[in-house]
Amino acid sequence: MRYLTFALAKGRLAKTTLKLLEQIGITCEEMKDKDTRKLIFTNEELKLKFFLAKASDVPTYVEYGAADIGVVGEDTILEEGRNLYEVMDLGFGKCRMCVCGPESAKELLNSHAMIRVASKYPEIARDYFHNIKQQTVEIIKLNGSVELAPIVGLSEVIVDIVETGTTLKENGLTVLEEVCPLSARMVVNQVSMKMEQERIQALIEKLSEV
Ligand code: PRP
Repeated sequence: MRYLTFALAKGRLAKTTLKLLEQIGITCEEMKDKDTRKLIFTNEELKLKFFLAKASDVPTYVEYGAADIGVVGEDTILEEGRNLYEVMDLGFGKCRMCVCGPESAKELLNSHAMIRVASKYPEIARDYFHNIKQQTVEIIKLNGSVELAPIVGLSEVIVDIVETGTTLKENGLTVLEEVCPLSARMVVNQVSMKMEQERIQALIEKLSEV
């Protein structure tokens, strides 16, 4: 039997995923060692391998078949636009992709003004403004702390993830429009889906029971 390889997005999603996998009897003791510098972990008995990757790289590993299965947020899947199968909503990591800004920016959105939009997700922002709202905007790509942009005058609004809303509130910003709901998803390489259909299908079934 060949190994099935999982690519997990580093951080909270990976921790929750490992807990979920434990509930269906899939464990990886090696991975629990906090001091390890190892990058890839094996469960010999079940013929599984696991590795942690930066979230935005997970769809890349899966598209190229370096991982058969990936667990990553819907935000990253939409932004990366890779060829893969999205097979399951894992139901955790729930949040929303929103257009946010100061209350005063609301009229700029309604009047279809030419505005600047800062985001870590330029593709999602572009698709929303250009294709869905049909509003011509300038997209500015940032890499973090996006809430700063409207405060310091880099952009009028941002497109970003809102979970509890605390970051917005503490910075005097608010949700102006909702782009889409988000959660953690399981994605599968297109060839693996055919070659390993039975094992992957069994995994999906078990996961949907917990
Ligand atoms: C994310 C997101 C928001 C914040 C939303 O940022 O980009 O800034 O979390 O969460 P909240 O609604 O619960 O406040 P992250 O913490 O990943 O860091 P970053 O700003 O450096 O991207």
